[in-house]
Amino acid sequence: TPPEPFRVRLPIPATAEPVSPGRFEVTQRVADVEIIPGTTTRVWGYDGTFPGPTFDVRRGEPVTVTIHNELPAPTSTHLHGGVTPADSDGYPTDLIVPTGLDFEPGHGSHMEVKEWRLHDGSREYEYPLDQPAATLWYHDHRMDFTAPQVWRGLAGMFLIRDDDEDRLDLPRGEYELPLMLCDRAFEDDGSFKYPSIDDSLLGVPGVEGDYHQGVEGDVILVNGAPWPEASVANTMYRLRLLNASNARRFELAMDEVGFTQIGSDSGLLPQPQELETLTIAPAERFDVLVDFSQVPVGTRVVLRNRLGSDGTDVVMRFHVDREAESGAAVPRRLVEPATMTPDEVVAARTFAFALTNQGDHQMWTINGRPFDPEQSLASPRLDTVERWTFTSDFHHPVHVHMAHFQVLTRNGKPPAPEDAGWKDTVDLRPYEVVEVAIKFSGHRGRYMIHCHNLEHEDMAMMANFDVV
Ligand code: C2O
Ligand code: CU
Repeated sequence: TPPEPFRVRLPIPATAEPVSPGRFEVTQRVADVEIIPGTTTRVWGYDGTFPGPTFDVRRGEPVTVTIHNELPAPTSTHLHGGVTPADSDGYPTDLIVPTGLDFEPGHGSHMEVKEWRLHDGSREYEYPLDQPAATLWYHDHRMDFTAPQVWRGLAGMFLIRDDDEDRLDLPRGEYELPLMLCDRAFEDDGSFKYPSIDDSLLGVPGVEGDYHQGVEGDVILVNGAPWPEASVANTMYRLRLLNASNARRFELAMDEVGFTQIGSDSGLLPQPQELETLTIAPAERFDVLVDFSQVPVGTRVVLRNRLGSDGTDVVMRFHVDREAESGAAVPRRLVEPATMTPDEVVAARTFAFALTNQGDHQMWTINGRPFDPEQSLASPRLDTVERWTFTSDFHHPVHVHMAHFQVLTRNGKPPAPEDAGWKDTVDLRPYEVVEVAIKFSGHRGRYMIHCHNLEHEDMAMMANFDVV
């Protein structure tokens, strides 16, 4: 039985410390941790923790991250939202294989991969960080096994700051809370419950038949703790919300306190916007201010999920248990709007996300094709803007690597409030048509567009594009 809500204190993940200026080393390993009080869960964690350590880095100060893999399976690490050179982007077939592991790449896969890149034990990723302040995250991206590996704990937050953000004097230190939301299911002994066909994650990939739409759990975790409670002062807080679930969407609402959104996936908005509720799909981030000075000291404010039921309708609770030493104000303006004009668009392309028949079985596909690492669906030119149209048959959180976009229309109408700002992931709902203006600046090379429902991703709903 799931634990009582609000019994566990909200944990704050450790901050990643560089081993020398600009150089980080992280070891992926197995650890036994207490998630459900009184039980033990075996996690696969960056530095053995779930979530992994939070990176707190600055624009224009490049870093390298060396990942050592001591897990019982290969990994690939992707910095989600990063404007990263293709070689460091965490391509699914570019793997760190634990030293000595007997591993046959592609065994049992539905997808034909001719070339694998295998690194023995560790590799270095380069992040130039030439991009505005934003809430990013990093997670596993291994071909065919992303969903179970992220479920086991391979995810963490990655915050980029810059001078423009510093000038705004936003809540910092104890008044800034990274909140990684995700759902998980547990066995009675506390171990993670996930319907893998082969639990070793070395054999046949995929999930049991009933789970092809995506795997959801009945326990809501925030920073790896079930329905935690955070003790807060009666002042303004900055919450960095990330939905790190494999498949669950949330519609977040707080008793008595609203959200002031200041940032989207890829950076700060030009000006804040008030949101009473906020729908967040897998992999999306919302940077929000919440003002606990609006309720008396002693109040307990529940963060709810209007799309949930039987426990998943609650996320966590804030206990406003003290007077604040200082107040903060919402800035009226945040950053200069970086707009794109329609006449900048040099090409238009459509990506249809749908379940299609492939021989004798059905697969999640893009433009009717399952992922093929040899093929590319588009070759946009560096430093141009294109109009991309996404269509769907189901909920598909569509994510584009490297390039950021702005939503132009949703079903021919103006974008939803949650679509505001620069984004790298958009919540595409059943039978919707979403148009975005996407800018390819940063790097040339091969990148991916895919569904971020991680079960769909593992079942081939991915494609390459080449920035040329
Ligand atoms: Cu968050 Cu391709 O991934
Ligand atoms: Cu999908």
